[in-house]
Amino acid sequence: MSRSDQQSNGGETQLSRRKLLEFLSASPMLAPGAVAFVAGFLGGSSSALAQSYDVLRQAPVLDGDLIANPAQALNVFDFELVAKKVLPPAHYGYLASGVDGDETLKANRDGFEKIAIRARRLIDVRKIDTTVKIFGETWGSPIALAPISSQGAFHPEAEGAVARACKAKNHQMILSTVGSTSIEDVIKERGSPVWYMLYPTDDWAVTEALVKRAEKAGAPAIVLTVDRQGGRNTETLFRERRGDTRTCTDCHTPGFKNEVSRKPMFDDLDVSKVTNLYGTGMTWDYVKRLRGVVKGKLVLKGIVTQEDAKKALDYGVDALIVSNHGGRAEESLQSTIGVLPEIVGAVNGKVPVLIDGGFRRGTDVIKALALGATAVCVGRPYAWGLAAFGQPGVEMVLTIMQREFETIMRQVGATKIAEINGTSVSRV
Ligand SMILES: Cc1cc2nc3c(=O)[nH]c(=O)nc-3n(C[C@H](O)[C@H](O)[C@H](O)COP(=O)(O)O)c2cc1C
Repeated sequence: MSRSDQQSNGGETQLSRRKLLEFLSASPMLAPGAVAFVAGFLGGSSSALAQSYDVLRQAPVLDGDLIANPAQALNVFDFELVAKKVLPPAHYGYLASGVDGDETLKANRDGFEKIAIRARRLIDVRKIDTTVKIFGETWGSPIALAPISSQGAFHPEAEGAVARACKAKNHQMILSTVGSTSIEDVIKERGSPVWYMLYPTDDWAVTEALVKRAEKAGAPAIVLTVDRQGGRNTETLFRERRGDTRTCTDCHTPGFKNEVSRKPMFDDLDVSKVTNLYGTGMTWDYVKRLRGVVKGKLVLKGIVTQEDAKKALDYGVDALIVSNHGGRAEESLQSTIGVLPEIVGAVNGKVPVLIDGGFRRGTDVIKALALGATAVCVGRPYAWGLAAFGQPGVEMVLTIMQREFETIMRQVGATKIAEINGTSVSRV
């Protein structure tokens, strides 16, 4: 199907609906009641029928493949094309890259194709509730935003725009240690506390100061990322960078100290002893030490085996995020959705299990919840939205994913998250 044949959510929708109703009203063949019936079918969001996608939506004819505004997007992939167009090659390469041959990046997506959804019929699903409770806080949606570093590379409003979109659409987000915006500013824009993702520096004084600052700002959870210890080969980034004619050193001054000193979370900290952010040499003792410092919840991000999941429980961790860093850590060929069941089994309901990696559709989200995840995190899609259109782009990415998720919830006959379970899916 060509893009111009596809349906859209654009302003043209209103226009075509109005034209049809004008035409019907003028028709001597139809009684006024019939016109009202058709109007009810086309409009409003209160009826069950209106939950369906409007078949009369007109797709705007696009100039090439690119959407011109968020309302034209049919799915989150539409934002990726625009992000690629507007970003400098090196920045797009940074966002897109996996490691080595990007096979694990691909495996994350392929993993969803091995799981089918079991639709249930004749259940009244006109009203559904997508809230989830995590650490005593009610989230409007099980779809949260994964930490993504350096968002100033994608849009000048960076994490601030993302936080405002999260506020508007009622999603939780996790801020990266190496974000372009401070946690104080992000919490201000979000209007409520966000989670803080911690890269473990190799200077304990700096690490401790980061934790204290995040908790003082109100972060209820510290998310320690544990999957970057081994180093990595981001080939796609390196390849894209070849096509970038700008002088990278105009912004990226060489040297670790200069790189982190551009990040607001390191303001006023002495980073002269820090040589890396990724926890080289970090062991479970480090988790123990951190547990002793973190006053709120401690979450480990990057767990992909049941052995490590069990160990995390032994060390008093409060939640896990099953993650391979979006295929940017190790080239394992293992999807995160593929390892979710073994981790859910190992945890056995003791703590929440979140997951990220390749979530692009509402159907992906429901598969993870059916396999026992408490919530999912989305990475690149919201950064595509940010790069493409700033805050409105992020908002539309969240709107689309949430809308798709609600649609598939209805199709599996779930009126609330607790009703999504193992019977909602099967193996292909
Ligand atoms: C450009 C980029 C930067 C990232 N920065 C961080 C980071 O600072 N800390 C972290 O824990 N994960 C980081 N991640 C990984 C994400 O948190 C998440 O695990 C991943 O993006 C999920 O996969 P997805 O992009 O396929 O949705 C980053 C991912 C990308 C694409």
